[in-house]
Amino acid sequence: MRMYDIIAKKRDGGTLDRAELEFAVNGFVAGEVPDYQMSALLMAIYLRGMADTETAELTEVMARSGDMVDLSAIEGIKVDKHSTGGVGDKTTLVITPIVAACGVRIAKMSGRGLGHTGGTVDKMESVPGTRTSLAREEFFAQVNRIGISVIGQSGNLAPADKKMYALRDVTATVGCIPLIASSIMSKKLAAGSDCILLDVKTGNGAFMKTLEESIRLAQAMVAIGQHHGRKIAALITDMDTPLGLAIGNSLEVAESAAVLKGSGPADLTEVCYQLAANMLLLAGKGSLAQCRAMAEHAVESGAAFQKLKEMFAAQGGDTSVLDDPALFARAKYSQVVPAPQSGFLYATDTEKIGNASVLLGAGRLKKEDSIDFAAGIVLHKKAGGRVQAGEPLATFYAEDEARFAAAKEMFLSAIRFADKAPELPPLVLARVTAEGVERF
Ligand code: URA
Repeated sequence: MRMYDIIAKKRDGGTLDRAELEFAVNGFVAGEVPDYQMSALLMAIYLRGMADTETAELTEVMARSGDMVDLSAIEGIKVDKHSTGGVGDKTTLVITPIVAACGVRIAKMSGRGLGHTGGTVDKMESVPGTRTSLAREEFFAQVNRIGISVIGQSGNLAPADKKMYALRDVTATVGCIPLIASSIMSKKLAAGSDCILLDVKTGNGAFMKTLEESIRLAQAMVAIGQHHGRKIAALITDMDTPLGLAIGNSLEVAESAAVLKGSGPADLTEVCYQLAANMLLLAGKGSLAQCRAMAEHAVESGAAFQKLKEMFAAQGGDTSVLDDPALFARAKYSQVVPAPQSGFLYATDTEKIGNASVLLGAGRLKKEDSIDFAAGIVLHKKAGGRVQAGEPLATFYAEDEARFAAAKEMFLSAIRFADKAPELPPLVLARVTAEGVERF
């Protein structure tokens, strides 16, 4: 077999078979297929697309390029969730303890933030002492004991994806549904859970900017999960505006704890209930309405907040900051950003707001950058809200006052004002399952 022929077949619109995909992907991981040939193949896939079965095969080959985590040592049904990434998206920290408090196991591997989007592992590490790297035996034992553990992704989970993603990033081949779907799903299949709920973000702060594109991506991922015998569904959720009010690591942990104590922002709370209910539904806990009621009860009874604390305590975290977020290390400086004019906030460029938080030190532009856990933004107004000129729009937090000017310029360039209250999209726009698409 020759890589040249595989590239030519895809260039001419052919469908690659399992042997050809294995030759290309495994050869690339082994260093036998050079970057330039894999780049050419990725571009051919980008331009020609892939058949559903071909995408499913590619995903499996990528998943099998490294460790396939066997979760059978953990009793019961294990449910995973994945978000395609957004600004202020702290849902994992809210919904995994809710689901675990309802008796469904969570053995989850999460990522770090990159670019304008945050990552669960960074947020967790803002709780002093928290370990996000556990040996496999400790990870399993914790889930068997308390029902939940969230840790960082192991280095050898889908290494083909890691290498292919790095190439896609520099060859203009990221925005391609079969490649995104196989990238995400290879990691989810390798991570081993029985059920997977996908949170596909849509809007100006998301990867997929339109609802139709997001639905197509969700359908591709659901088809892959289905093909590999997993119970899987996707919710398409709004990312035209940040989720909740807090953006930045410890700020977001504090907000997640607030939701679990019943005092979080309404938008975040609602999205979390819908996600948690859908995870419970996949795990067979009842009808969607029963699962929603179960999720609400887990919060109202305090069981979900206790579960969050149990997880952090088991992983070495100081849970006093969850009880009282004022105990989190504070940023040295804060600055209120006043509204430059009166009106209704009718739109926010969410990616820019995420970038403003990165400028304050809350995120990283390169993988090796360090982050400041206390830095970030707390919004006082969101899209749809009315403001008077001079009223606080947001408060910024940073370790260095010099960071404020550029962040403020970026933030204000993201906000648009109107005379009339805007019509906002629903928080959850659609649900995609193997049976079809339900639009809300
Ligand atoms: N997230 C991933 O893991 N892979 C992609 O290709 C895009 C988003």
